[in-house]
Amino acid sequence: MSVTRSERRPRSELNRVLVIDDEADIRELIDLTLSRMGLAAECAGSVAEAKAALAAGSFQLCLTDMRLPDGEGLEIVRYIGENHPRLPVAVITAWGSAENAVAALKAGAFDYLAKPVGLEQLRALVRSALRLPEGVAENDELRALTGESPSMQQVRAMIEKLARSQAPIYISGESGSGKELAARLIHARSARSAGPFVPVNCGAIPENLMESEFFGYRKGAFTGADSDRDGFFQAASGGTLFLDEVADLPLAMQVKLLRAIQEKRVRKVGNVTEEPVDLRIICATHRNLRERVEQGSFRQDLYYRLNVIELRMPPLRERLEDIAPLVDSLLGKLCGDGHPRLSPAAIKALQLYSFPGNVRELENILERATALCAGDLVEPDDLHLEPEDGVGGDLQGRGSETLDDYLNRLERQAILEALQKTEGNRTAAARLLGVTFRSLRYRLERLGIE
Ligand SMILES: Nc1ncnc2c1ncn2[C@@H]1O[C@H](COP(=O)(O)OP(=O)(O)OP(=O)(O)O)[C@@H](O)[C@H]1O
Ligand SMILES: [Mg+2]
Repeated sequence: MSVTRSERRPRSELNRVLVIDDEADIRELIDLTLSRMGLAAECAGSVAEAKAALAAGSFQLCLTDMRLPDGEGLEIVRYIGENHPRLPVAVITAWGSAENAVAALKAGAFDYLAKPVGLEQLRALVRSALRLPEGVAENDELRALTGESPSMQQVRAMIEKLARSQAPIYISGESGSGKELAARLIHARSARSAGPFVPVNCGAIPENLMESEFFGYRKGAFTGADSDRDGFFQAASGGTLFLDEVADLPLAMQVKLLRAIQEKRVRKVGNVTEEPVDLRIICATHRNLRERVEQGSFRQDLYYRLNVIELRMPPLRERLEDIAPLVDSLLGKLCGDGHPRLSPAAIKALQLYSFPGNVRELENILERATALCAGDLVEPDDLHLEPEDGVGGDLQGRGSETLDDYLNRLERQAILEALQKTEGNRTAAARLLGVTFRSLRYRLERLGIE
C-alpha cells in the first residue's frame, strides 16, 4: 500500500490531512504545501487505500480527487458523511467540470478546488477548513430567529449544518420572511465569522456601474477612476458575500458572476490580470428563480451554481404557533421591558391573517398598534389589519402562491375559525366543519396546528 507520510514534526502536534489522488505529482505538491503550513499529510492513491487510512487514524481534513482508479471521489465524500460526519472533506475537480463540483457539494463536501490546483486557493481552503468550529457552540445567535414551530426548528438545524460548509446557498422565501437574517446567522456561525459579511442589493445598482462595483477598478480605467478601488468581491474576502435580490441581476452581469464563482478569481475593470478571491456566496430573492430560468431571464448555469443548497424560509402563515412568541420578542425589542400586551382576541386575529409581508409586516403592525393603543392591552381593532378575502375568497386572490399553499391556507383558516367558535373543542369543531374527528386530527397534524 502506497500510504506515505511526511513526518517533519511529531504527528501528535499536527493537524492531519488525508490527501487522496492517484497522481503522484499532485500528491507531492499538496503534501509540500501542507507541510509548509505546519500540517501533516497522509496520502492515499485509491478509494480502498483512503478507507483503510480513515479506519486507521483520525484526520482534521480530507482532500480527494474526483476520479480514482477504483472509484469516484464522490464515494469517499459519502463514506465520510456516513462514517466520519465531523471530518470536512473537499474535492479536487478537473478543470471545467462544474457538474462534478456541484455534485460533490450536494453530497456533503464543504468546498472544492479546480485543477490546476492554485496554491493560494489550496491554502485558503485549508485555513477555512481547520478554523471550522469544533463541536456545537452555544445557540445564542440562533435564538435571534424566534419560533419553535417544526419548520423553524428545521430552519435552525439547517443553518447549523450549512454554517459548517462552504457550499453556495440559495435562500428562498417571501418578502420579510427572514432571508437576510438567516444569511447573517450562517455567516456568524461559520468558520468565516471573523471575516466580513457583505450584503449587496443586486436590484439597486445601475447596470453600467455593476462590473466596477462588484470587481473593483484600476486607476484610469474610465473617466473619474482617479485611484484603484476594490469591489464587493475583494471587500468580502475571507468572509461571506450576500447577493440579495439576485434575480434582478442583468444577463450580462450573470455571465461575469458565473465566471468569478467558477474560477474563484476576479479581474478589476481596467486590469489585465486576475486576482484570487476567497469568499462564500449566499444569495437570496423573494422571486421564483426557477421560473426566471424557464422564462430565460436568469441563466440556467448560474442558477445551478448558486442553488447548490436551498434554504427555504417558511412564510409566517405556515407557522401560526410562532406568532405569539414573535409578538413577545418584537414588542420587547420595540418597547423594552413592561411592554404592552396583546389580548387573546388580538393574537387570534393575527393568527387568522395571511401576512403577505411576513415578519417584517408583523413588526410594522406592532409598531403602529403600540403607538396608537391607549392602555397597555392591544385589542384587535388597534392592529388595523388589511381586510382580506377570507374563506370562500376566489382564486384570483391567490397571487403568486402555489395552488397547494393557497388551499392549505384556506384549510387552516377554516379550521382555526371553527376552533375559535368552539373554544378549542375539537369534536365540536369537526362537526362544524363537516368532517370526522379523525380527519380533523390528521389535518391539524399536517398543517402543524397545535
Ligand atoms: N424568525 C424571526 N425571528 C425574529 N425576527 C425575524 C424573524 N424573521 C425575520 N425577522 C425580522 O423581520 C425583518 C425582516 O427580515 P429580513 O430582512 O431577514 O427578511 P427578508 O426575507 O430578507 O425580506 P425581503 O425579501 O423583504 O428582503 C427583520 O427585521 C428581521 O430581523
Ligand atoms: Mg432581504
